[in-house]
Amino acid sequence: MRQSYVAGNWKMHKTIAEAVSLANELAEGLKRSPNKLMVAPPFTALSAVGPAIAAGGILLGAQNMASELEGAHTGEISVRMLKDLGVRVAIIGHSERRHVYNESDELINQKVQLALTEGMEVILCVGETLDEREAGDVERVVGTQLRAGLSGVENVSLDQVTIAYEPVWAIGTGKTATPEDADAVHRYIRGWFAETYESDAAENIIVQYGGSVKPDNIAALMKMENIDGALVGGASLKAETFLPICRFND
Ligand code: 13P
Repeated sequence: MRQSYVAGNWKMHKTIAEAVSLANELAEGLKRSPNKLMVAPPFTALSAVGPAIAAGGILLGAQNMASELEGAHTGEISVRMLKDLGVRVAIIGHSERRHVYNESDELINQKVQLALTEGMEVILCVGETLDEREAGDVERVVGTQLRAGLSGVENVSLDQVTIAYEPVWAIGTGKTATPEDADAVHRYIRGWFAETYESDAAENIIVQYGGSVKPDNIAALMKMENIDGALVGGASLKAETFLPICRFND
């Protein structure tokens, strides 16, 4: 039985004071949750949010990390710096990193491998654009992102890996994939794991859905067989919308 996993990606929002205030509300509201929970504040708020969410059993996440361990990489943040702050999970290959900052599958794979080697958990994001969906290319695109993103990753490391299926056209647009459409892609992802890894991998891998997840659509999404959780953007920025999402199964 896979544990439900809900994560909040705060993107480039919140000052330290705003982040801590939200973190305190979440910790208070989620103390007894049976679900795995994570929030990824901006880098500047990580050290302040970490202690605040610990009481609620919420994991601290980073929205990105460098592909190199250290060195002359102005503006980058290394996996060890993140671990120093108590970060347990790194979101890698988010569509905004792929499409706005031109991160390649190769770079994303370097980050994934480095994170896993350093004992960090990873949420690897995959998903197609609207043009790719309309061209009937969803499985090819998602399959390529999985194959490239997880290249060199062994079966034993998969317990550190979560996949987030985030169709690019559904992110921040208010358009959600129907639960059935999302589930079909999640089923494809699970099938890909079955073909690529040992037999229990497909059963155990947690696949989150992301893209305009809200309190009023979470239950229908989570009812689907292959949807194990959510990666939430906009609705994770307020306790009044994120708490009901995290508590979808109360
Ligand atoms: P929204 O929930 O705002 O659509 O964002 C989804 C997302 O990109 C989470 O990583």
